[in-house]
Amino acid sequence: MPDIIRTDIIRTEALKKSYANGRPVLDNIDLRIGTGERIALIGSNGTGKSTLLKCLIGHTSFCSGEVVTLGETFHASPSKTQLQRIRQRMGFVFQSHGLVRRQSVLTNVVHGKLGLAGGWRAWHQAIARQEFREQAMEALEQVNLTAKAKARADELSGGQAQRVAIARALIRQPALMIADEPAASLDPTAGRDVMEVFSELVRKNGITLVFTTHDMDHAISFADRIIALKAGRIHFDLPAGAVSRSEIDGVFNA
Ligand SMILES: Nc1ncnc2c1ncn2[C@@H]1O[C@H](COP(=O)(O)OP(=O)(O)OP(=O)(O)O)[C@@H](O)[C@H]1O
Ligand SMILES: [Mg+2]
Repeated sequence: MPDIIRTDIIRTEALKKSYANGRPVLDNIDLRIGTGERIALIGSNGTGKSTLLKCLIGHTSFCSGEVVTLGETFHASPSKTQLQRIRQRMGFVFQSHGLVRRQSVLTNVVHGKLGLAGGWRAWHQAIARQEFREQAMEALEQVNLTAKAKARADELSGGQAQRVAIARALIRQPALMIADEPAASLDPTAGRDVMEVFSELVRKNGITLVFTTHDMDHAISFADRIIALKAGRIHFDLPAGAVSRSEIDGVFNA
């Protein structure tokens, strides 16, 4: 696709990152991710996948190079204002769902609005604006969980809880979704179900998705493009349909 019509949601140039006194974790990463793409980030344990996600969204600072996320250009780390602007337009999903266990599913989804609007009014479903509750129900409908709206979060299975976490991210109407091993704590069937719902929702809503995974089947099935990291560098960056078994083996072999 010519550059002229592609809008980059994320771009990095010569991104380098090392932690204090450590060897470089990310070494000259050049990356372009366009609007609506679904990207799987793969690589062995400790290759820097989570670190790369954190650099992209300003959760850790980097040593040199440039990052542009959602139109905000920064070096080392974004300013406070840039960070706020980035956060307002993105959602996160992590390996651990991070729900408030003693509160209802609906309240947990409304929490996705925290920091975006409302302050204390958004804090509890009972006093949150009606509009937020309606949006939360819509998000629950999208993940097929309206029946559980009133259940307490600790009454859910792992797969259901992760779908609530997705609804909580969706209610923010993000342009960008960042997910660090969203299915890693789930059994194979629940993991696949969650990824299926997630991937379809971001596609339907035109959201750009960057997720990390150790499950190559998920990478191939639920991403448009697979980026493999190895020894701090991009080992390959290919359309998901073009990645062969031997290429995948090469990512994990020494
Ligand atoms: N806060 C930190 N301080 C120091 N070193 C860190 C920190 N976070 C990560 N590292 C190191 O940076 C390297 C990359 O870690 P990172 O968590 O990004 O890898 P990963 O690819 O996400 O691994 P995994 O597949 O296990 O989640 C590792 O060597 C790790 O020990
Ligand atoms: Mg990680």
